[in-house]
Amino acid sequence: MSSVVNDPQLNSEQPNTPADGEAKLSVQNLWKIFGKRAERIIGGEHERRPREEVREATGCTIAVRDVSFDVRPGETFVVMGLSGSGKSTLIRCLTRLIEPTSGSLLLDGEDIRQMSPAALRELRRRKAAMVFQHFGLLPNRTIIDNVAYGLEVRGASKAERHARASEMIEMVGLSGYESSRPGQLSGGMQQRVGLARALAVDPEVLLFDEPFSALDPLIRRDMQNEVLRLQNELRKTSVFITHDLDEALKLGDRIAIMRDGDLVQVGTAEEVVGAPADDYVRDFVSDVARIEVLTLRSLMRPARDDEPLDGPEAAPSTLAGEAVAAAAGATAPVRVTEDGRLLGVVGREDLLRVIAEDRAQAPAATAGV
Ligand SMILES: Nc1ncnc2c1ncn2[C@@H]1O[C@H](COP(=O)(O)OP(=O)(O)OP(=O)(O)O)[C@@H](O)[C@H]1O
Ligand SMILES: [Mg+2]
Repeated sequence: MSSVVNDPQLNSEQPNTPADGEAKLSVQNLWKIFGKRAERIIGGEHERRPREEVREATGCTIAVRDVSFDVRPGETFVVMGLSGSGKSTLIRCLTRLIEPTSGSLLLDGEDIRQMSPAALRELRRRKAAMVFQHFGLLPNRTIIDNVAYGLEVRGASKAERHARASEMIEMVGLSGYESSRPGQLSGGMQQRVGLARALAVDPEVLLFDEPFSALDPLIRRDMQNEVLRLQNELRKTSVFITHDLDEALKLGDRIAIMRDGDLVQVGTAEEVVGAPADDYVRDFVSDVARIEVLTLRSLMRPARDDEPLDGPEAAPSTLAGEAVAAAAGATAPVRVTEDGRLLGVVGREDLLRVIAEDRAQAPAATAGV
């Protein structure tokens, strides 16, 4: 057993891409171009040109350009990027709220792009529920009727939908507010209603488009914790869009970073922070304390002949920051082991180097943005 506890929230052990056939949701070569005769851009001379240039030359906006990724069952897949980078367009394309220009979308292997209007309605009602930034609640309905809305559309009886809605209201901590109206609730509470409404239909996939960006920082943190708790309990496959790197690191099993419609990097927090694909990504993660994100797996090295091997033991998924206390109290390096096998060691000097680099990068900050 490891002597240092791993942070289960980071899930940094997961490989970068799922094995074949393992995807819950598979997005391949997805394009969305706004404008007249948008499809002529794909395969044409402007295909890879910068978005602004394409807009000037053709009047078309490439919102999502040739994006591919797979989301595993139960995974929270975060999409980040600056304003206008194509995040909302991407997530709306997933259920064809926005019709993609090209590409393939598979849910459990089923082709979303081939679905009939009736099948699409089913998809949106039962399989993929969306939580929006501005809550999207019906102001004249009570909280319980808002939460039950998806079930009503589906034709469930009043007793059935109220039973389910009450359960969801309790789950998000809003018991007692069943008969209130949305306007009587704070922003954070309204977003809990939005969450309960999405969960009420027991969807297979949850789609979040910046659900917490309108909330105060403290309430936002509560909501993030709520989502983490629910994800631990329910393990829904989720796509979560955010501007906020802290939120991405906290919630995402993997993080995808978009710039001007392109997907520039997909990886675990550790991969994105430890090896940014380009300057744009490096800029995004520059304030992150790497000691809080990197794991011993990425820091370990073979033991030197002259090193004692009686140091504390830790799992490879242990965060560097969590190993600091153990390393500080020992003269021998931390032994990184898995199933009783020694994989490598991490010495005090290795951890200090990460701390020194963090300080050099962001002298005033210790973590996050
Ligand atoms: N209906 C539309 N018609 C034309 N252009 C659009 C349309 N919707 C979005 N765009 C353009 O597509 C690009 C991507 O927009 P999108 O809303 O997906 O970005 P975003 O990453 O969600 O931004 P934000 O963080 O501000 O929500 C932008 O350049 C935007 O102007
Ligand atoms: Mg958006």
